[in-house]
Amino acid sequence: MAVSSAPGKVYLFGEHAVVYGEPAVPCAIEVRAQVGVEQRSDSKLRIHAEDLSLDGFTVEYGGTAGSPPDVDVSESLLTAAMGYVDVAIEHVRDVTGEEDVGFDVTIESDIPLGAGLGSSAAVVVAAIDAGTRELGTTLEIDELAERAYQTESAVQSGEASRADTFCSATGGAVRVEGDDCRTLDAPDLPIVVGFDGGAGDTGQLVAGVRSLREEYSFASDTVEAIGDIVRKGERALERGDIEELGRLMNFNHGLLGALGVSSRSLDSMVWAARNAGAHGAKLTGAGGGGCIVALDPSDETETALSYTPGCRDAFRAELAETGVRRLE
Ligand code: MEV
Repeated sequence: MAVSSAPGKVYLFGEHAVVYGEPAVPCAIEVRAQVGVEQRSDSKLRIHAEDLSLDGFTVEYGGTAGSPPDVDVSESLLTAAMGYVDVAIEHVRDVTGEEDVGFDVTIESDIPLGAGLGSSAAVVVAAIDAGTRELGTTLEIDELAERAYQTESAVQSGEASRADTFCSATGGAVRVEGDDCRTLDAPDLPIVVGFDGGAGDTGQLVAGVRSLREEYSFASDTVEAIGDIVRKGERALERGDIEELGRLMNFNHGLLGALGVSSRSLDSMVWAARNAGAHGAKLTGAGGGGCIVALDPSDETETALSYTPGCRDAFRAELAETGVRRLE
């Protein structure tokens, strides 16, 4: 069996706008998905998932369309786990040329699903890495990131940027603008995450922003304005100017609200963090529910969030310097 892990991430700046070619700056954090892949003697795919902040489950199936598994879990949970793992395994078969090989795939993840912390990207990166290594091939990080991006893009009907998958594969803070993906020098950031216990549907939220852009020119202006904030944010990151980073994160959150992707609980957590003295706070990821990211070197934000109605969990997150980790 080969086992790999990959980190989740927060967006300091630029989610949604990155889908339209603006830059984004996500930052990998030390919450991880770990995937074990073991070759089977038949061509079936068996997926066993645990700790996805949802009930665990096991599915076993032929791995081909038309042979859906017969299991008693919600369709969205199945789609989330199987859709991504299924396409990731297709990439493993493609890279290695072993078209008929079957696998037992075990997923353990501390990253809540659909909450803006890059759970699917982490699972896909770790699954492709472990799957290819199980068959004796170790991918370069760039190819791993590209295959993971192709996987997300296929599952999300082409509505995905390279940001989540590149960040999870390489670790650290990164800058993504279209096909141009690079790592950034980042200071140690005092990141605090607030989680409302919910999730957003990335596909639906991205589609919502797309139709808003088509209907209203303010929405395309907003996407461009987010791009301006990201460019300023990158410079603030290079200077290690935490106050300016926080101010720009606040602006970015306001613009995401204008695009309709915030929610009452995300706004409450953002305001709780700001009132507690955080340098800045914003939603992270697709929005609709899930997580916010705040910058606060003191304990005040974490404490305030833990008393905020609508916040289920608040924790400090370390920057993950390493992306994919090869464990076995
Ligand atoms: C989702 O984590 C981030 C979005 O920008 C979509 C993407 O970049 O693929 C909303």
